Amino acid sequence: MFKFGFFEDKGDKTKDLDTKKSGIDWIAAAKVEISALEIAKEYEPNDYMENIIFPGCKLKLLRTETALNDLKKENYASIIEAESQHSDLIPAKYEGGLKIWECSYDLAHYLFENNVDLQNKCILDLGCGTGIVGLIALLKNSIVHFQDYNVEVIKTVTIPNVLLNIDDRKSIVKRCQFFCGDWESFTKLNNSDNETELIKYDIIFTSETIYNPDNHRKLYEVFKRKLKQEGVGFIAAKTYYFGVGGGMRQFQNLIEEDDIFNIEIAWRSKEGVQREILKITRKQQP
Ligand SMILES: C[S@@+](CC[C@H](N)C(=O)[O-])C[C@H]1O[C@@H](n2cnc3c(N)ncnc32)[C@H](O)[C@@H]1O
Repeated sequence: MFKFGFFEDKGDKTKDLDTKKSGIDWIAAAKVEISALEIAKEYEPNDYMENIIFPGCKLKLLRTETALNDLKKENYASIIEAESQHSDLIPAKYEGGLKIWECSYDLAHYLFENNVDLQNKCILDLGCGTGIVGLIALLKNSIVHFQDYNVEVIKTVTIPNVLLNIDDRKSIVKRCQFFCGDWESFTKLNNSDNETELIKYDIIFTSETIYNPDNHRKLYEVFKRKLKQEGVGFIAAKTYYFGVGGGMRQFQNLIEEDDIFNIEIAWRSKEGVQREILKITRKQQP
């Protein structure tokens, strides 16, 4: 089992620390290409299970054991190290994308309950991990870009999950793109075949990605630079990450200070750990 247990609470909830101040080397962003061999890969029934994301929505998802075996075969050291330390995350090495986090179920359910239009859109699943929310959008005929810090997660979990759920596998190269690496360089990365044009998104959603306050600024910059003028952003997270330091009010303050987005708390949990979903839209340009 993975567990939080690596950050010290720095006790300063307002400071925006950037990459340099944190003294950690974050891996630069890159596009992850998908090979013909990967597209053709067959999965045994034992490799995956059908998960009920919410009543009426089932997805085929690779079992964690299968993913771990594949990681070992590929000798992906960072995540194997995290697993051996029983750790959910090791900052800048492994950022937790191997398992499904609670708030991505909240977000998927919220989008369904509120009839958020996911048809034929261009969507970014930011910090996607297993990619369940992006998968739901993909099944609604949207183009989906999946981004996760770890190339290992993209290769051994996200891409297999996409392949398990689409019928026309060859369409994956037209309908999906995959990116790994740090958000800071991701904001500047070309995500289009046309070198002069950056693709902007109709919808960007992210779940359980605000736990590290050192990363708030760069996470926010992705929304700022990559959301279309009329686009919508959704941020699903626990209200506060005890022992880790990040929290929704801190992230909300950062957005409010910049004053270019309208922001509302679109949903709050009624039981269990306090969780919520923020919805952001751009303010009208003067
Ligand atoms: C706790 S996981 C959540 C995964 C998934 N969204 C979910 O809810 O199941 C946090 C995700 O944020 C991404 N992430 C965290 N810090 C990042 C950074 N500095 N740059 C890029 N991605 C980052 C990781 O890729 C990781 O998958």
